[in-house]
Amino acid sequence: MNKNIETALSHIAKYAPFEDKAGASHFPIYNTGTFDLKKQNGNKIYDYTRSDNPTREMLENLFSDVEGGAGCVCTHTGIASVALLFETVLKANSSILVEADCYGGTFRLLKVFKEKYNITVHFANFLDQDKVEEILKNNQIELVLCESPTNPGLKIIDLEQIANIAHKYNALFAVDNSLATFISQRPLELGADFSLFSTTKYVSGHGAVVAGAIVAKTQELAQEIHYYANAHGRSQNPMDVYLITLGIPTLKIRMKEHEQLSIKIANFLQEQDYIKKVTHPALKSHPQYELAKKQMQYIPGVFCVDFVSEELAEKFIENTKIFGEKCSFGSPDSRVEIPAKISHASFSKEELAAIGISDSTVRFSIGLEHIDDLIEDIKQAVK
Ligand SMILES: Cc1ncc(COP(=O)(O)O)c(C=O)c1O
Repeated sequence: MNKNIETALSHIAKYAPFEDKAGASHFPIYNTGTFDLKKQNGNKIYDYTRSDNPTREMLENLFSDVEGGAGCVCTHTGIASVALLFETVLKANSSILVEADCYGGTFRLLKVFKEKYNITVHFANFLDQDKVEEILKNNQIELVLCESPTNPGLKIIDLEQIANIAHKYNALFAVDNSLATFISQRPLELGADFSLFSTTKYVSGHGAVVAGAIVAKTQELAQEIHYYANAHGRSQNPMDVYLITLGIPTLKIRMKEHEQLSIKIANFLQEQDYIKKVTHPALKSHPQYELAKKQMQYIPGVFCVDFVSEELAEKFIENTKIFGEKCSFGSPDSRVEIPAKISHASFSKEELAAIGISDSTVRFSIGLEHIDDLIEDIKQAVK
């Protein structure tokens, strides 16, 4: 990166593949399927938007730069970037090692790959590095994948350590950076080969679009993700690219605010007798608090709360007026959900229990409202 990250994010048009003659602050949306090769006068050739598009290329250049990679593909959804990772790295009969606490959509996709392409999926708790090493030692693993913080369990994984173990056994290491985002955490600098994220969440921040991206560390891997993105039609349309760019310049101030507001709400909840446990990586009570502070600049405003009973958790969700019952996170509006019923419904009860999630666990994503209004809403919802 030539400039500091805040400056890069505030001048996205500088990442366009060519200069706009009118000097537009927002690089034009090239909303076209095709390009006339005869009109390109020997400059970079665009032919078809599925393969390459100048608007999308701008966002890919930005993400690649701020994540410290060699290339990026912007995808039509966040889960498409996970699919593209699998399509790039895995072959029929390959093996993958995944942190057991992962997004429900990733879990469902792993089942699809297992059933359709005979992929062997090993799950492990990545806090147990001996176990991770044992699996890598005893199996031919092509790819290691985790989130950090994990969703919904909010564990903090030591990315540098896991990268070292994965590489010792010649496996590639990918990190889903959707929660922390590149403003807080840069997995490639810690040794990962891929950083991928849903731009639906904090990166766009307005919640008005669904999209994703995957950044590769080396030129060779970058070429491969481009090849498979074109082959499988994973690339994002230019209109959605534009919507993502509208949110990016405010990422840092939003993350700071989400962090501070969510700490206040988590502290308030921790003192209530209807709450059994609050899991927020920014609280000293979190088991990986020190690592969270070291690995992330801002801690995202997503946390989990165990109510004393399932009935109370349900009553709370039913009665809130400001908190919507919604999946996803990173939007300006605060939201709550029971992961076992919505975002992680593809897990069985036993699989969720193994990662510490029950029917009385509620996941909060704190938005950008006023603290007093959120606390009032919580108080009236449990009355
Ligand atoms: C950690 C994580 N990764 C990936 C995704 C998938 O992103 P999208 O919903 O944009 O497809 C999600 C969605 O919630 C997520 O939480």
